[in-house]
Amino acid sequence: LASIEVDVSAIQPGQAIKTIFRKQPLFVRHLTPAEIAAADGVDAASLRDPQTLEERTKTGKKQWLITMGVCTHLGCVPLGAGEGEAKGEFGGYFCPCHGSHYDTAARIRKGPAPKNLEVPEYAFTSDTVVQVG
Ligand code: FES
Repeated sequence: LASIEVDVSAIQPGQAIKTIFRKQPLFVRHLTPAEIAAADGVDAASLRDPQTLEERTKTGKKQWLITMGVCTHLGCVPLGAGEGEAKGEFGGYFCPCHGSHYDTAARIRKGPAPKNLEVPEYAFTSDTVVQVG
């Protein structure tokens, strides 16, 4: 299966981009310090799909949240990566199909989705380039 390379150098803190990976939407988000703090301020054990932000990002690259843009309920594309889109009650992503709210680590916090947004296999090949897949 094909990998893709994403140049993240132009993505400012608080911004995200949407791209396509293996025919599905992929979100690459540059978290602000406040968004990181919000994610870290939650007891992961209390979550539906218990994961910390650390577990969902790479060591030393906690500000880069890379997930599939596919709601784990029935597969709609959540809002929140595009400029001005609703981010939901937890400041991450919001799936308008049936109202799933994801937090700033893209973890499911409210609504019918059973799982966090999936983190694909990826690696940083330089400070600003990510190879996904
Ligand atoms: Fe996202 Fe149902 S597909 S809430």
